[in-house]
Amino acid sequence: MRILSGIQPSGTLHLGNYFGMMRPAIELQQKGETFYFIADYHSMTSLFDPAERRKNSLDVALDFLALGLDPKRSVFFRQSDVPEVTELAWILSTLTPMSLLEKCHSFKDKSAKGLPVNHGLFAYPVLMAADILLYDSNLVPVGQDQKQHVEVTRDIAIKFNETYGVTFVIPEPQIRGETAKVPGTDGEKMSKSYGNTIEIFGDEKALRKKVMSIKMDSRLPAEPKPDAGENLAVQLLKVIDGGAGRDLKKKLFDAYWEHFAGARAKRAELASNLDFVNGVLKAGAARARAVADPVLHRARKACGLE
Ligand code: TRP
Repeated sequence: MRILSGIQPSGTLHLGNYFGMMRPAIELQQKGETFYFIADYHSMTSLFDPAERRKNSLDVALDFLALGLDPKRSVFFRQSDVPEVTELAWILSTLTPMSLLEKCHSFKDKSAKGLPVNHGLFAYPVLMAADILLYDSNLVPVGQDQKQHVEVTRDIAIKFNETYGVTFVIPEPQIRGETAKVPGTDGEKMSKSYGNTIEIFGDEKALRKKVMSIKMDSRLPAEPKPDAGENLAVQLLKVIDGGAGRDLKKKLFDAYWEHFAGARAKRAELASNLDFVNGVLKAGAARARAVADPVLHRARKACGLE
């Protein structure tokens, strides 16, 4: 079974991303042949700073490798290192009804807010379909927000197969459950856009300060607290090590710092050996291309380009 997913290089990794996305992805390495890529082409629809794109892409690679992605088990690569995906995206776009893309939240929400939308953002799901179909993926683990895009992928693949003969594997989405709901420092869902994140890697002092700033209960210690489970520090501590106790925030900080101690050391080691990291991505791209090439030829033949 081939499992494939893309990760947008969107900045500093926080607890929400880790428990929501990265840890499940790392665990899936035991379940099948995993293909994970850094979606740098997709980042172009909303990020226009080349230095930041380069830095964010490298950061994702470091984070993922430090936290347990095993480049021997997984094919780990940068999306743009296999530019063939853009050819497939073009081919697929010719079979994609405009109305299908007009319904996609990614585009609809932004345009409804009157924000400028470029063609890349409109066509985003088609590139995502190409990502998925180019590697004969069976299973696509994604968050709820990406489910619609996998459904679009299935529609496009079915349409291609009907039009030009059976060519593509029809993928299944695997929607991550809300098991690891990670609250941010203000109690809302942890998200970069809410400014309530606790990062995984970073300066100890600054991170301790963030943890210590979490809103706490103002009742006296002796008062009964039947709603203690709602307390943010309790919730976060549960996510990290399943426990709780006195001196909650200090305990939370220590548990969190300890939880990522190994990854922190590994990340520092990787960051001082970027040749190794770039080598992993290059080797990943070569393995990815070896799978992609025959699929692209199959598609080109099917539609009469070859
Ligand atoms: N759009 C996805 C996200 O923002 C990232 C992504 C790009 C992706 N291509 C993909 C995910 C292919 C799964 C499969 O999270």
